[in-house]
Parts: sequence; structure tokens; C-alpha cells
Amino acid sequence: MTTIYIGVMTGTSMDGVDFVAASFDPLQIHATLTMPFDPDLRDELMALTLPSDNEIDRMGKADVALASMIGNAINQLIAENNLDKSQIKAIGSHGQTIRHRPEHGFTLQIGDPNIITEITQIPVISDFRRRDMAAGGQGAPLVPAFHQALFQHPTIHRVILNLGGIANVSLLPAGNPEGVYGFDTGPANILMDAWCHRYTGQPYDENGNWAAYGQPIRSLLDRLQAHDFFSKEPPKSTGREDFNLEWLDEQISDWRNDIEYNELEDTPENIQATLMKLTTRAIKKAIYRSPLDTGEVYVCGGGAYNSHLLEQLRWRLRKHNWSVQTSSALGLSPTWVEATAFAWLAMRFDHQLSANLPAVTGASGYRILGTITAV
Ligand SMILES: Nc1ncnc2c1ncn2[C@@H]1O[C@H](COP(=O)(O)OP(=O)(O)O)[C@@H](O)[C@H]1O
Ligand SMILES: [Mg+2]
Repeated sequence: MTTIYIGVMTGTSMDGVDFVAASFDPLQIHATLTMPFDPDLRDELMALTLPSDNEIDRMGKADVALASMIGNAINQLIAENNLDKSQIKAIGSHGQTIRHRPEHGFTLQIGDPNIITEITQIPVISDFRRRDMAAGGQGAPLVPAFHQALFQHPTIHRVILNLGGIANVSLLPAGNPEGVYGFDTGPANILMDAWCHRYTGQPYDENGNWAAYGQPIRSLLDRLQAHDFFSKEPPKSTGREDFNLEWLDEQISDWRNDIEYNELEDTPENIQATLMKLTTRAIKKAIYRSPLDTGEVYVCGGGAYNSHLLEQLRWRLRKHNWSVQTSSALGLSPTWVEATAFAWLAMRFDHQLSANLPAVTGASGYRILGTITAV
């Protein structure tokens, strides 16, 4: 009988919660679901990513609301797809990150696993990041081990690029599991979504069409790239604490006093194009500074559907003949890669196998990640 694990992921974009029922060796996807947030819950989760009043009570309520939503959605996933519950060994639930402070050794994901177990009557593995942090790591990114297990190639260098709210890369040198590394390169959709929403009312810039009208603004780009995160050496990870609309507004207002400021350039679509270039340049730098000379880039996460961004990336990586495709070319839709990674992480915990890569997170060694809430 095939053992199924359910992965649950909600990333920094906060566009919704993704669910995947998967089994491994070989990978098989049995069912998928994306559940959008109730708008009030989304606003509250978003607000909780930055310091504000009465955070503990508010966090407690959001913890319960999110967990109930996740538990009920899992029951729906099982019912709608006629999954055999006796085959489902565990749920791997990432939870919503509301604070990530590797510099202080803490990271916080909410969505109470006790409630999820109570609703589903299935064991939940959660709290995947803190053991790595306790061992001195960033607690992020955790997906490179999964990318390596599934996508490393014996003779071709590969890069898996996840474009969620944040962009992260996994570098998979051909045939060399020990050589794998990866890190967050900076913001991807966080800033582009927020800017697009403000000016167009749309939650995101479909296919990058709006950015495509604009031209990146050199002097603003330089200013944004001066953020400390870009000059840090890996291991490094980031989130909404570093990159958010308030930060962007400050940068823009400083830029407007810059001697290089040119009013004619100051249009919303030029700024959107600048944010896109901020994303693609950091990715290019990560790849060109790596020991990998050429190979294949596979893009996953919702940003994989941003065709203009992918075009830009192809153009930026043209020099060394890197190919750029989405993860669909590897047989897994960009939408489901991250949630599948959390099903995989649940499987690793279930087998009591380590799941962090010390070279990626900076932890002092391999660790088994997660804690279990038993039925
Ligand atoms: N057709 C599209 N065109 C451009 N961007 C898209 C498209 N579809 C999804 N996205 C982007 O992907 C984001 C969601 O990506 P996702 O991988 O779920 O991120 P996260 O892991 O942070 O939740 C959306 O917020 C949006 O910015
Ligand atoms: Mg998402």
C-alpha cells in the first residue's frame, strides 16, 4: 500500500494555502488544492508580520483561525479526491511565517497543529525550522534538500529557482550531492504584488504585462540594491521584515530627493519594472557567482507564471547558455513544488531522517526537522 503524506504550504505572498497529497520513490501526486484566505484573516496575518499593538492576543486568534481553515481544507481534499485515509501517514504543515529573525535565532510560524490533528484525526508534523535554528542555522531555505532528492542530475548542473514572495535558489551541481547549496536571493513577488495592487487594484501583475510597459530606473535600482541583504554572503534568508511596502516607500521618497532623480522616469510602471529587475539581477548574480558554469534553470512558485520575468531572466542569463524553463519540464507543476516539499519533509520526519542541509542553512550539522502532534 502506498504511503501518502499531505504537504501544506503558505508562503510570504499570502495568496492562499497550498495542499498536496503525495507519495515518494517515485514521486506521485494524488491530489492538490489551493484554498484562498478569508480577506480578514489575510489582512491580519499580513499585519502580524510587522510590530504592532496587542500582538499576542491577535496572534493567538490568527493561529486558531488559520489552523481551522487548514484542518477543514484537508478534510475537503480527502473527501473530494476519495483518498483512503488509512494510507495517509502524516500531514507536514509549514504554517504562516509571521516573523523570521535569524539574526536573533528565532522564527515563528503559526497555524496550531493540535487543532489540525483534532479536525483531521491525522498526525501533524510542524515547526520545521526551529531545530535548524537551534543548531545555529537560518532555518531557511529548507527546500533545497527536497530539490536535490528529486531533481539533481548526474551530468547536468541544475538550479531550482522558487519565485514566491521571496526568491530562493537551490544550486545542484551535476552528480555531487555534497556540493548542493542554496539561499534566498531577495524579494520576488512581495514588492511587485504590493506595488501592483496599489496602482492597478489587481493582486498581482498578470504575466508581468504591466511591468513590461515600463523601463527600469537605474538610480532607483541602485538605491534598492543598497539594502544590506544583497551584499550579505550566504547562508542568508529574508522575509517581509526586510522587504515590505513601507520600506519601498521610504526608498522612493529618498530617491525623489536624489540628485539623479528625473521626474519623467517617475511612473508607477517604471517602478514596477525596476522591482522586477531587482529580482532578476539578484538571481543572475547568485547563478553567475556560483561554481556552476552552465546548465538548466527550472522555475517554480507562482512567479513561474510571470512570463515577462522569465523572458528577462533568459535574457540576463544568455551569456553562459543557461536554459530557463518551469518545473513542469521536470514533471511537477510550479504551483505544487513547495507544498510537495512539505509532504517530503513530513516523510523525512516519519522516517527519522535529517532534512536540513548545513551548507545551505549554516547549521552546525544535519538535524531531523519538525515536531509531531499525535492523533
Ligand atoms: N499569471 C501570473 N503572472 C504573474 N505572477 C503570478 C501569476 N500567477 C501567480 N503569480 C505570482 O505568484 C504569487 C504566488 O506565488 P507562491 O508560489 O504561492 O508564493 P508563496 O510561496 O510566497 O505563497 C502571487 O502572489 C503572484 O505574485
Ligand atoms: Mg502561495
